[in-house]
Amino acid sequence: MKFLISFLLLAEFGLCRSENLLLPLKISTFNGSGEGLIDKRSSRQGGISLASQSAGTVSFYSMLNNLKGDVGRGYYLEVDIGTPVQKMNILVDTGSSNFAVAGAANSNIKTYFKPKFSSTYKSSDQFVLVRYTQGSWEGELGTDVVAIPKGPNGTVTINIATILQSEDFFLPGINWQGILGLAYSMLAKPSSSVEPFFDSLVKQIKIPNVFSLQMCGAGLSLIGEEQASPAGGSLVMGGIESSLYKGDIWYTPIKREWYYQIEVLKLEVGELNLNLDCTEYNSDKAIVDSGTTLLRLPINVFDAVVAAIKQTSKVAEFADGFWSGSQLACWMQGTTPWSYFPKISIYLRGENSTQSFRITILPQLYIQPMADVGVQLECYRFGISSSTNGLVLGATVMEGFYVVFDREQKRVGFSISSCAVIDGSPVSEIAGPFSAADISSNCISKRPRTQPALWIISYALIALSGITLLVSVILLIFPCSHRNGNGLTDDSSLIRHRWK
Ligand SMILES: *[C@@H]1O[C@H](CO)[C@@H](O)[C@H](O)[C@H]1NC(C)=O
Ligand SMILES: *[C@@H]1O[C@H](CO)[C@@H](O)[C@H](O)[C@H]1NC(C)=O
Ligand SMILES: *[C@@H]1O[C@H](CO)[C@@H](O)[C@H](O)[C@H]1NC(C)=O
Repeated sequence: MKFLISFLLLAEFGLCRSENLLLPLKISTFNGSGEGLIDKRSSRQGGISLASQSAGTVSFYSMLNNLKGDVGRGYYLEVDIGTPVQKMNILVDTGSSNFAVAGAANSNIKTYFKPKFSSTYKSSDQFVLVRYTQGSWEGELGTDVVAIPKGPNGTVTINIATILQSEDFFLPGINWQGILGLAYSMLAKPSSSVEPFFDSLVKQIKIPNVFSLQMCGAGLSLIGEEQASPAGGSLVMGGIESSLYKGDIWYTPIKREWYYQIEVLKLEVGELNLNLDCTEYNSDKAIVDSGTTLLRLPINVFDAVVAAIKQTSKVAEFADGFWSGSQLACWMQGTTPWSYFPKISIYLRGENSTQSFRITILPQLYIQPMADVGVQLECYRFGISSSTNGLVLGATVMEGFYVVFDREQKRVGFSISSCAVIDGSPVSEIAGPFSAADISSNCISKRPRTQPALWIISYALIALSGITLLVSVILLIFPCSHRNGNGLTDDSSLIRHRWK
């Protein structure tokens, strides 16, 4: 059966204009702690096993499924702050390094941290201001004790930035009140002397300097009912939990300890090697960032990927708006479009630098369903966007893998995630080793880097269900019988417009 696929911009009213209808945006509600919410994926996971550490056998059982969230709004962890305890949901972000929590009321959050009710809170009388392109947050630095109910045993005293004022940081639909930056101190604000959370955790409770992250949103729709019960995930602090992955863990060196900067050697779309100079893939850096929604690619790479997808798939006629993220592609219900699209493989430098390994995402990960967009239609967005500040392996990619941030050995590990399965089939692959002899021994561009202190960080989160979204797109399938509009913002990085 041949599917006719055509696209209409909202502005281009064609023959079927009268049927053109704009759906009101759906605003999902998220209730409370989510204690009653069951992660749909957790039941599919296999048995729980113990991981061994050099110090002996440590159980990570208590940390399994300690995250909730989704690809659009990020994954969050429950944290107990202060004395007596104030419970907060905290976004897990491997692309920043401050622990910051709401310290004042905001219409989009249900609760906030009140330092004056915590006997252990100590203010440092120091302010921190973080600006974004569309807003800012400003807060007071202090310290307090923190415990993670589904984390390692014990309490730690950590640096906390209490957000007193913010703009466009807490967006509609989110269910978290703060952010846990898991990157290195070099990115901490206002200076690298503010010790990040994980550093404090390692020092004070003496866990191994390793954490690992499994995000289980693959295949779940981005808007709609599914989000009433958000996907789950696991942040394992202090090691690796063997039930969360299958096969081997492949490691790539951390090239510089600020972000988790790694080295990308090659990209393939289907069987097609993009054949760009390998420095293009790393300009001006390539990072692993759980706080970014999409796979973001430097402009040249992005253009080459889109051209290659057009070439290797049956979707050459897609409107530009689909690739740029302003349009959805819709199919009649029951038609899964994934078979039209190629796999995408990213080759990373191996621990042996003359070798590489590749991580592969299937279209199921980057052609992402958006629920409830249209009547009798299933609509999808393109989960890859262009970037002017580097390549980012965001949640779109990370959802395929159990990712090990082995700070101890300065390397990031990838393995097939036990929850990266849709309809019984895995949606990610890993293979290696491959020879890297034909690739430059250094793909990291040498142009001078900006001082981190000068960067303006933007934490403008997309709220897929938010009222700020404007109707921007229409895609049409089949002779005009169903056409529906809905809105998307053009750049769906969870943390977008981040100028770093
Ligand atoms: C959320 O809470 C409101 C009011 O407490 C309730 O009416 C609604 O049904 C709840 N929604 C869900 C999805 O639990
Ligand atoms: C925390 O303590 C409990 C009880 O002593 C123990 O069963 C569990 O394994 C510990 N968890 C970790 C992560 O050490
Ligand atoms: C690295 O890999 C090459 C083959 O690509 C092999 O000849 C060499 O012995 C390896 N080096 C180490 C240290 O394992």
